[in-house]
Amino acid sequence: MSKVFITCALPYANGPCHLGHLRSTYIPADIYARYNRMKGNDVLMVCATDEHGTPIAVRAEQEGVPPKEIAGRYHDMIKHDLESCNISLDSFTRTTDPTHYEISQNFFLKLYEKGYIYEQVIKQPYCEECNRFLPDRYVEGKCPHCGAEGARGDHCEACGRHLEPIQLVEPACLICNSTPEIRESKQYFFKLSHFQEDLKEWIENNEELPPNVKNYALQWLKEGLKDWILTRDMEWGIPVPLDDAEGKIIYVWGEAFLGYISSASQWSKRENKPWEDYWNDRAVHFIGKDIIYHHSIFWPALLMAHDCKLPSTIIAGEYLSLEGRKMSTSKNWVIWAEDFLKTFDADLLRYYLIANAPLTRDTDFSWDDFQRRVNDELADVLGNFLHRTFTFTHKFFDGRIPEPSKFDENDEEFEKRMKELPEKVSEHIEKFKFREGLIEIIRLAKYANKYFNDKEPWKAVKTNKDEAANCLYLCNQLTKVLAVLLVPYIPEKTGEIFKVLGMEEDGITWDDSKVQLPSGMEIGKAKPIFKKIDDEVIEKEKNVLYESLEDEDNMKDIISIDDFAKVDLRVGKIIGAESVKGSKNLLKLSVDIGSKKIQVVAGVAKKYAPEEVLNRKVIVVVNLEPAKLFGIKSEGMILATDDNMSLLTAEGADIGEQIK
Ligand code: 2FM
Ligand code: ZN
Repeated sequence: MSKVFITCALPYANGPCHLGHLRSTYIPADIYARYNRMKGNDVLMVCATDEHGTPIAVRAEQEGVPPKEIAGRYHDMIKHDLESCNISLDSFTRTTDPTHYEISQNFFLKLYEKGYIYEQVIKQPYCEECNRFLPDRYVEGKCPHCGAEGARGDHCEACGRHLEPIQLVEPACLICNSTPEIRESKQYFFKLSHFQEDLKEWIENNEELPPNVKNYALQWLKEGLKDWILTRDMEWGIPVPLDDAEGKIIYVWGEAFLGYISSASQWSKRENKPWEDYWNDRAVHFIGKDIIYHHSIFWPALLMAHDCKLPSTIIAGEYLSLEGRKMSTSKNWVIWAEDFLKTFDADLLRYYLIANAPLTRDTDFSWDDFQRRVNDELADVLGNFLHRTFTFTHKFFDGRIPEPSKFDENDEEFEKRMKELPEKVSEHIEKFKFREGLIEIIRLAKYANKYFNDKEPWKAVKTNKDEAANCLYLCNQLTKVLAVLLVPYIPEKTGEIFKVLGMEEDGITWDDSKVQLPSGMEIGKAKPIFKKIDDEVIEKEKNVLYESLEDEDNMKDIISIDDFAKVDLRVGKIIGAESVKGSKNLLKLSVDIGSKKIQVVAGVAKKYAPEEVLNRKVIVVVNLEPAKLFGIKSEGMILATDDNMSLLTAEGADIGEQIK
């Protein structure tokens, strides 16, 4: 028996759980935990709510309540959501618990004492009105790369780039809207760059790390690691435990990881068992794709600095879109766990989200596809097999498992496949290929239905009762095998199957799939375990979802022809180009637009060197209100694609020509 420490990424306590969270992290982690417990391993599965960080602090200020109150509200909701989905956590705590503060501060101190944390004075936006520095989301402005409004101090949603607060163009304090000034402030940096080589070695040699995690991590390592700013000037957070660090807190990502440990440590106190034994045996992190960087780079480096054992592997579930569109909580293009569970059983969701696609691939939730899989696979294949087996056993064998006699070839084949199944599923789950395991199970149920049809026990019972008995004997055995192997996936539904079989579901082990049910054993009455979902039910759900889209479309996405006509687009020739000092992204361009020459600052420097854009004919928005980027005046905008930053060109056109 080995010990396994399983962690689920800590959800921010600023919103309830939605299907994306469940698909990427919590359901896979729970399948793995339940499987391991059934294999006799000693599992400790932990999580907590991540309660610091600026989104919660800003929201609290806007609502006029303490941040902890907001966090508490969502902690309760998230706990409820996870419980409703039967995520079998051993501990679910909060990063505002005193234990977490203590562990995080000690961790910080140890790294400081070992010389892995150093001080450095840096420039930060400061709001004179509010009398404070403006980290991360406390400041908003235009993105220096793409020009989008509403970029935050740490991130631009429009172009997806990471930002530093002082990079924002036309910055404004999120609370009072005044323009911040730039002030110097002392911060603490973690020597991340020091771990470059050790991290590379760990990642390259770790055979368990899945390719999606490995590839991302190696790509970042190739770009070279920079030291990491580990503190902020703000009130909401864990104070930096040093004498001359008043007003400074540990950055939320500098302490959130320790939530795994503080959650485990609180469990240890309660259960009187050392969590360290679990961590040191085998630790597995379940996360979403968006935080691979944090878990494959920051966290292992922090652990190395502290001299701790590194996790065995990191499993990162990729994104879930919704009806073909990117999920967005702000646009209400989302399905919340709680809403889903008002109409459907949690197991249907667990089944669908796993069966839909491998974890390591982005995938889509669609109501039609959900209905199709439930109806075709759960109801028609699995449900039908269980139902006909139980019903026929009652009808022809008094509700008792019949005595088998000599098997024919088909029976033998059936038995062989049934006996091979637990090992096959096991192999997949151990490799975190949860979908493949599920597919094996459904494939066998499909085959079993065919076997049942071919055997025609309803006829055989009149002509050759032994043959019918063999069929029902084997099918009953398979109901139990399927139920056992499905426990990690759909624990409530399997409970219902065990009930029919008269078995106690508590304490079921993986090896119980190999134990035969004795002939003569009485089974309970059959009842439909998987029902089909009607079209009207799905229509209703779709209507609710698409309603929010209609509002959105009406409000935002559609512009009139007059609006479009206001944009003066011209062909311009780039006649001068130079880099902008201090910016990796911007080029300062001089553009001839026929009637005059204008200066434009364009965020394409990552793609083009100045000499590469010279003499190109590009499309320019010439009637844009002038703005300053990096202190340089920009009088227009050059059109380029968003992700690739490819310039839109018009080589055959005349300079100054209007585009209509
Ligand atoms: O991205 C997030 O949702 C973070 N709250 C995850 C933290 S995971 C870990 F580090 F604690
Ligand atoms: Zn302010």
